[in-house]
Amino acid sequence: MSSKENEVIGNYEVGKEGVLTRREVLLMGAMTAGGMVAGSAVPVAAAGEGAKKAASPDGPYKAKDFDKLAKTLNGFSASQIQQHLKLYNGYVAKSNQMYKMLKDVDVSSANATFSDLRELLIEQSYAVNGVVYHEFYFGNLGGKGGEPGGDLKAAIEERWGSNAKFMDFLKGAGKSARGWVVVGYNTRGGHLDAFALDTHNVYSPAGIIPVMVLDVYEHAYMVDFGIDRGKYLETFMDNLDWNVVAKRLSVASKHPSGEDSTV
Ligand SMILES: [Fe+2]
Repeated sequence: MSSKENEVIGNYEVGKEGVLTRREVLLMGAMTAGGMVAGSAVPVAAAGEGAKKAASPDGPYKAKDFDKLAKTLNGFSASQIQQHLKLYNGYVAKSNQMYKMLKDVDVSSANATFSDLRELLIEQSYAVNGVVYHEFYFGNLGGKGGEPGGDLKAAIEERWGSNAKFMDFLKGAGKSARGWVVVGYNTRGGHLDAFALDTHNVYSPAGIIPVMVLDVYEHAYMVDFGIDRGKYLETFMDNLDWNVVAKRLSVASKHPSGEDSTV
């Protein structure tokens, strides 16, 4: 576990139960078009309607409540989930902290070798992606695994041939990544794609709206599974909520795909 994983608390907000709202998707399209962070979490003050709200002293981000997962997941202990949520809350806190620091940072000393502005701009993507990807991850847990249906099933079959092949692919991807596996809707091609990230902001794809996110950092499974990542991946899939993934795809697929997706 890195030292960054031990950092502390704050506030962030996303759509209900980790499912994107249409407003979030459209906003995200604008964000990804600018090469910014892809994800569902939206800084309240940056989301238009948030400008009407009084600013929280904690900052614009608000942590979602995933506490029930500590009691409801099969094969995960309460301790595993609670410790993981503590890390998530840390990213929320740091996202808020950096949001506020960037308001007052000394831009006159900006420098590409080192400057406060440079460090905040870089580490901001680590913190915010740490929030966003964890919200997608916890948001797609709490189900019973099994098989996807409907449009999601069709999209998986189009990309991977069958759900069985996709599940094998996902296990392989989970063993290949050092931080995250992100399965998302590609706003250019209008299809699903999978990506391996080595940390929150390393190899994070642009123009991709996540629909299923898998955390493969050791902190996600060491408490319960030691170094047996394969057993963790099986347990993750047994608790996957395909309904959440399907809802995410349904909203994401309304994004204008193709060359005009940056408008
Ligand atoms: Fe994590």
